[in-house]
Amino acid sequence: MTSILRTPQRVPTSSARLRQVVVISVICLALYCFLLVPDHSLDSSRSTIVDTFPQSHPHQSNTDTNPKSSPAWISKHPPSLLNNRHLSTSQCASAFPGLTHEISLQVSKGPFTLPRRPHDLGPLIARIRNNQLSILSYARKSDLSAEMLQHRSATLYQLATALLTAPADEPLPDTILAINHEDDPISPSLSYSRPADPTYDSSTKRYFAMPHFSQYSWPSPTIHSLPHAARLITSIESSLPWPSKSPRALWRGTTWFNHPRAGRQRQALVSASRGKPWADIEALNANGSNAVPIWDFCRHRYIVHTEGLTYSGRFHFHQLCASVVLSPPVAWMQHLTHLVKPVFSASLPGVARARQKTSEEPELELAQQYPAPWVQSAWPRSYDPERDANILFVAPDWSDLESTIEWLERHPRIAEGIARRQRELFDGGGYFSGAAETCYWRALIRGWSEVVRVDENAFDDLEEIPWEEFSLKEIHK
Ligand SMILES: *[C@@H]1O[C@H](CO)[C@@H](O)[C@H](O)[C@H]1NC(C)=O
Repeated sequence: MTSILRTPQRVPTSSARLRQVVVISVICLALYCFLLVPDHSLDSSRSTIVDTFPQSHPHQSNTDTNPKSSPAWISKHPPSLLNNRHLSTSQCASAFPGLTHEISLQVSKGPFTLPRRPHDLGPLIARIRNNQLSILSYARKSDLSAEMLQHRSATLYQLATALLTAPADEPLPDTILAINHEDDPISPSLSYSRPADPTYDSSTKRYFAMPHFSQYSWPSPTIHSLPHAARLITSIESSLPWPSKSPRALWRGTTWFNHPRAGRQRQALVSASRGKPWADIEALNANGSNAVPIWDFCRHRYIVHTEGLTYSGRFHFHQLCASVVLSPPVAWMQHLTHLVKPVFSASLPGVARARQKTSEEPELELAQQYPAPWVQSAWPRSYDPERDANILFVAPDWSDLESTIEWLERHPRIAEGIARRQRELFDGGGYFSGAAETCYWRALIRGWSEVVRVDENAFDDLEEIPWEEFSLKEIHK
């Protein structure tokens, strides 16, 4: 690209005609690049990330044999970098390529106006001025469940940390933020996810994905926090080579927790896998007796992933495992979901969908088209399972789950490669580290402030509560 851009400088200034020809050629070349090689020109960061990782098990041939024992995980970065929350913008960019893709996507839609909602409805409104945080509008803690309050608090602590650790020579812009701590994304706001379907994430919507609250803390006995789980996962993965992992696909969950568009997806998963030797799939007991700690999912070769009403709060935990995540095409993008490189089950030779008993599960009709039209625009590419893929998308009605798992068991080296690439990227690349999280938050504040338009005086009558005071008064039940 550099040499092309330099060409016009060599044109003699007198020859305006030649300059025109060069300019037109450059435009044609640019159009050619964008139209014919979209994956590279529009999202070059994706391809470079994985390519920079050393291959501990290069795939030499198509003949599939048992993979070697546990690979040595290669972390790109030392702990001193991964724990450093003070990185500058350029240090962040070189350490974590592609990290801020979601932010750029929303910023590229251009300016938007932040509406003033009545009272404390809608997202929390926060002000940043001179790198100081204050709260302008918020739901009273009496109106929030203990869990909702925890989600909100964890998110605000992340934001406060990003402000506190900003390098002195890179102050953050003054701005007003809308922070939505509910599961359902709200436009315009910082939300935990956005719809992957471009029909819903249209040019009029502004969903700025923020890091999940569990990166700070999720005080549940089977989770604790992402950093806590990451430490335990590292110890599991370093002592449990692929052949020693359980071959049974694991899932636990609450079956009634479905998005309307997904139909009865979770119930269907439980019935499709009942009594199958390849499955360790159960609805959670009301007493929680069959719950599995989130890190122990990595003891299995295959992890079945379902989204809930919106994004799934466990997805990023599964991404730390060297396990193959089997998921219906992901419909809610979290701040790092764009790094996922799916191979579709339909593209695996010999994998077939079982005939559906539609009379028993009529509600499944909705989910039966695979890939659905929205999937084709949200996930246009199926990646090479031997070289690139780091996740496996299956039919949302689970009709090819069994066939897919059988295929993976017949191709252990390919299965292990998909699993390994996932962990190498998300853990090895440090994308869920404290450093990356803080880098992302500061980029998020900058991106938002670049395009948000706040009506003069629209929020001026609101009482401004300094974060230091809010953090003692409104954080816990
Ligand atoms: C928990 O619930 C399951 C199923 O409902 C039951 O089989 C089990 O005995 C219960 N365990 C305890 C400790 O209550």
